Amino acid sequence: MDILLGLQWGDEGKGKIVDFLAPNYNMIARFQGGPNAGHTLNFGGARHVLRQIPSGVFRADVKNLIGNGSVIDLVTLKKEIEELQQKGVPVVNNLFISKKAALILPTHRLLDAAQEQRKGDKKIGSTLRGISPTYQDKVGRTGLRIGNLLQADFTNRYQVLKQKHIEELQFLQFTYDLEPLEKEFFEAADFIKKLQLVDSEYFINDEIDSGGLVLAEGAQGTLLDIDFGSYPFVTSSNTSVAGACTGLGVAPNQVSEVMGIFKAYCTRVGSGPFPSELQDETGLKMAKIGNEFGSVTGRPRRCGWLDLPALRYAVMINGVTQMFMMKADVLNSFEELKVCTHYELANGEKTDQMPFDIASEPVKPIYKTFKGWNQELKDIKSFDDLPQELLDYIDFIEQQMQTPITLVSYGADRQETLLRENLFNLNVLH
Ligand code: IMO
Ligand code: MG
Repeated sequence: MDILLGLQWGDEGKGKIVDFLAPNYNMIARFQGGPNAGHTLNFGGARHVLRQIPSGVFRADVKNLIGNGSVIDLVTLKKEIEELQQKGVPVVNNLFISKKAALILPTHRLLDAAQEQRKGDKKIGSTLRGISPTYQDKVGRTGLRIGNLLQADFTNRYQVLKQKHIEELQFLQFTYDLEPLEKEFFEAADFIKKLQLVDSEYFINDEIDSGGLVLAEGAQGTLLDIDFGSYPFVTSSNTSVAGACTGLGVAPNQVSEVMGIFKAYCTRVGSGPFPSELQDETGLKMAKIGNEFGSVTGRPRRCGWLDLPALRYAVMINGVTQMFMMKADVLNSFEELKVCTHYELANGEKTDQMPFDIASEPVKPIYKTFKGWNQELKDIKSFDDLPQELLDYIDFIEQQMQTPITLVSYGADRQETLLRENLFNLNVLH
């Protein structure tokens, strides 16, 4: 099994690359997260956004699995499937859902809003999709799972959990109208029940044992990891490499390549520390050229320079074997680029590591400046034809990370992707 995951705060372009690589694999598997993800794919002149369905869905004969580590919103999933069907994508035959994946109830979504409201100006800026309350119930051992939909006592169990939520909503003095939400929830439940709900740990290991190639598709990014991210401004799952093992039931010794994907700069959506953030014209320019608006919530994304202490941390945590650089084209018109190489701590000390709590003990970025390449990348056909300034930029990052950059993406379209083939040691190649 290979793993592809984000090395920053999400939105690195995971969907585009999973779709690009999918023809080389037999199965694409999501292992954590849920409808907080928005994976955008562009091909054939159209844009597609996937929330919960793995990004292999547009490739014929590729199985797509939503693993046990995921949380699932039935209503959103039903809509997602129906939209794909309208586009003529044969999604249902190739989609498999773990019976052990956690179920997002309508009251989880309400609780997400209520808990955020309660935090006031300390709110996480969550996607309000019920992610945190659902994982709270999972870890609290009170949650429901997809497989429960098939059991006779589902409605009873639902009522018990709902009652617990209503008590919390009352405590938080949150007003809501649950009825319409419940109506669409149960309609969606009837629809999802008829899909291929599987014992996914057997399903995926059988695939691997019979020689099938599996690609695990991360959601969010390493800096949003519940353990290693900028806590508490994180999501509620392990977005890093170990999450793929627990979120799928695949043992670590089955993992081959770990592909870490990062933007040539940084973005973040929602609250939380962002040392290299640019709250100026340059940041706005990045946001505009990069079309940096959340694909789930439409919120503008905060932008800033590439952050190497954070990237190095993500490469270490994940054991990244190769890195993919995304959105290089967004920097085409910048005269000068900066890269954060170190942080300055409050006591004046300089470090290239991630300190314990940058949320309450902010750090100052220390930059190295690079000359921009100042040209379009559209007509470039091979890695070696990239402008020298971009090659220098890539070279510096590789040196700093001690990890090769084997793919550069220079546009949103599937085709605007360059592979450095001699370094690309996946067992399968285009
Ligand atoms: P993809 O898969 C970027 C952010 C939210 C918020 C924090 C917690 O498209 O990269 P949550 O709803 O998960 O409880 O919100 O995490 N967040 C993302 N940011 N990309 C994502 O997914 C994200 N999923 C969650 O904005 O700050
Ligand atoms: Mg996204």
